[in-house]
Amino acid sequence: MTKDAFRLISPSGKETELPVRSGTTGPDVIDVGKLYREQGVFTYDPGFVSTGSCESDITYIDGETGILMYRGYPVEQLAEHSNFLEVSYLLLHGELPTAAELERFDHTIRTHTMLNEGMLNFFKGFRYDAHPMAMLSAVVGSMSAYYHDTLDASDPAHRDIFAHRILAKLPTIAAAAYKLNIGQPFMYPRNDLDYTENFLQMLFSVPAEPYEIDPVAAEAIDLLFILHADHEQNCSTSTVRMAGSSGANPYSAIAAGISALWGPAHGGANEAVLTMLAEIGDKSQISKYVAKAKDRDDPFRLMGFGHRVYKNFDPRATIIREMCHKVLKQLGRDDSPLFELALELEEMALKDEYFIEKKLYPNVDFYSGIIYRALGIPTSMFTVMFALGRSVGWTAHWREMISDPTGRIARPRQLYQGPAQRDYVAIDKR
Ligand code: CMC
Repeated sequence: MTKDAFRLISPSGKETELPVRSGTTGPDVIDVGKLYREQGVFTYDPGFVSTGSCESDITYIDGETGILMYRGYPVEQLAEHSNFLEVSYLLLHGELPTAAELERFDHTIRTHTMLNEGMLNFFKGFRYDAHPMAMLSAVVGSMSAYYHDTLDASDPAHRDIFAHRILAKLPTIAAAAYKLNIGQPFMYPRNDLDYTENFLQMLFSVPAEPYEIDPVAAEAIDLLFILHADHEQNCSTSTVRMAGSSGANPYSAIAAGISALWGPAHGGANEAVLTMLAEIGDKSQISKYVAKAKDRDDPFRLMGFGHRVYKNFDPRATIIREMCHKVLKQLGRDDSPLFELALELEEMALKDEYFIEKKLYPNVDFYSGIIYRALGIPTSMFTVMFALGRSVGWTAHWREMISDPTGRIARPRQLYQGPAQRDYVAIDKR
């Protein structure tokens, strides 16, 4: 919908009308597409603080009130009533599936879980202690070498098969990376199991003895996958869109997204939270670390706190904290001192003037690591877990981006601050 334009008047009096567009909900946007053509200036917004990079139908966040919706459905409702595979269908196709559609989708995903056997050789080349995120991005990047029969982005059937392969094979790749780290044999997928159970089986079973899937673990992981499934134009998703906008094959775009996710300001924060809690160690140390986080001269930040968009509770963190209580209680694991430390840190930070004033609340990463740890998932796999959930969001965004007939290569401009033109100086004159 287009409404009243913004009028921009340059210092020399030249006027340009910039159209204002409204979405279904959320702030309007000013379309500055013709600004350079008409006024010869660019907008400047490092970190995209006030910039919408695209139009999207997939996910909506209201950071002021703490609302997150996938295709219009509040995440709380999906977390309570749905499962990851159904949410994946919703994100990819825009609507909740009928029973028959879900059954077909489930069957498709279950029957694409195996990797091309050659890909397993890839793992033999990695050091045994390679970080699983490094292996995940490398192996996903290599998928275009194994599945180059379906790389025609203009063909909807190819786009579907790509989506199914990403969703079905990422857990297999992630589990293989973990098995390499711990020196255990790679476990093949079992298509009689559902999505999350199959992943747990590949992660934790060994050929030497039977493995029983813990329903508490399966429920918790499925919930975490739902909560991580999409988050509109976050850093890794924007990376996928940007890489894909050049027409690069979609597996490469997903690999780029995985690499972007790894940073501690993004998905790497769940690993960093546990490292931080271990460093804090004891409740008596909390005030010291809160003071460090507030000190401008100290680079330390409370990991799992703060968000670019949420200036209120992150709805995902609220659900995860509940799940954390449930998992720890049901498993009777002795990780609770860690949970208690996290709860107390949260309480202290939320009462602190600095965190109140800057609207810094616990985010999705604050409690997820405690659940992973209670389930026996090592810290180095935490960001991989995030990537598994987010892979469907990346895929949905890539599909949306590539199907947009008005889509162009993403190519930001800059404010050049380097040297003005100068002449080459011969080496003996420098
Ligand atoms: N601890 C202490 N101070 C903080 C924190 C924190 N965790 N987060 C932000 N601040 C301060 C920051 O120093 C700045 O203060 P000032 O205005 O005085 O310079 C102010 O709050 C605004 O921070 P910012 O870095 O400008 O905000 P941003 O929107 O660019 O960054 C963020 C958002 C998530 C990167 C940041 O809050 C952060 O580094 N948090 C810790 C890492 C983390 O938990 N990341 C996971 C994010 S949620 C999941 C995901 O996206 O993957």
